[in-house]
Amino acid sequence: MSRFESMVQSGTIVPTAFSEIDWDKLGFGGIITPFIGGSVASSDGIFEPITIVPNGNISIPPLACCLNYGQELFEGMKANRGPDGRIRLFRIDANAARMAKGAARFMLADPSEALYREAVIETVKANSDYVPPCGKGALYVRPILAGTGMTLNPAPSDTTVFLVTTVPVGMHYKGSSMVSIKVETDFQRAAAKGTGWVKAAGNYAPCFLPTHEAKHQGFDDLLFLNQTGTHVEEVGTANFAIMKHGVLYVADSPSILPGITRDSVMRIARELLNIEVVFAPLELDRVLGLGKFAGEGPADEAFFTGTAAIISPISNINYRGKDYFLGEDVGPFATKLRELLLGIQTGVIPDSFGWVTIVE
Ligand code: PLP
Ligand code: COI
Repeated sequence: MSRFESMVQSGTIVPTAFSEIDWDKLGFGGIITPFIGGSVASSDGIFEPITIVPNGNISIPPLACCLNYGQELFEGMKANRGPDGRIRLFRIDANAARMAKGAARFMLADPSEALYREAVIETVKANSDYVPPCGKGALYVRPILAGTGMTLNPAPSDTTVFLVTTVPVGMHYKGSSMVSIKVETDFQRAAAKGTGWVKAAGNYAPCFLPTHEAKHQGFDDLLFLNQTGTHVEEVGTANFAIMKHGVLYVADSPSILPGITRDSVMRIARELLNIEVVFAPLELDRVLGLGKFAGEGPADEAFFTGTAAIISPISNINYRGKDYFLGEDVGPFATKLRELLLGIQTGVIPDSFGWVTIVE
């Protein structure tokens, strides 16, 4: 029995009966798939072979480093079913590389691209019935890397668990076609030289309170600013971009997550649509048409990019109590981008970038 298998109390989490799933009403979470995959590395940093086991709770000690000191990262990917019925995974190598960088920063063992790839593919295969029908959503894949060894000292764990779990999902943003957001002026998401660029679990909980408050005020999400309050960072769960006067401006910063969707969008814009892309720190004034950009007016289109968010167009941005309206209908660029991105992800459009892996 592998160490991973002995950690999982298989059977303690009961999968959702296939017959109970209403594919037309998928939310973001809530359905339980039958299998998880994973592996454990000891202090030598070497992972055992991947095992796929029936879903269940995981036993970790009360002094596990991830519970006490937050030594934990995760990833997010999607498996899409195309009109041809085949299941496709998007940019596994890029997700594995991002996890490897995070692992180095958090002193966790790195599963390696080969092991990451195998774990994701085998877990998706085992749960393939739960990949939604084409057009109804996707199977969200959540790889997790956590230091589970016991330590009272705030020091790296001697044990790293790598596990992959999956959930069928519909839309992250409540299914409406456009979202309304608020610029956050009281809280920042990440420190300038901190770990905002890592997909660390600990980056998410601090966003709960401001996001909860924004939702209570009727907004769908928040736009965080940089440490001087002048430039756009990202939404708590996705990157931010605008289209203005025919140019795509994609927000960059050392303290945001380097999104794989963001990178894909830039490549599609440049290589398939021949659009000029400016990938740099993005001034809030440029987005809203304030200050030296007042003569230009606000962005023609604004949207988030992310695995869960896909392309989520923004209808209005509220800044210091004032609404800046960007349009009631999804703009032509966001529409085209979404069509191309989802087209590549589902096999409807040829994948000239080599991004897709077919799960046989
Ligand atoms: N920013 C944050 C904080 C995220 O959690 C995500 C989601 O993964 C993104 C950006 C977008 O990244 P990606 O496009 O790789 O999903
Ligand atoms: C993703 O898009 O994969 C994410 O991780 C966002 C999630 C926190 C909702």
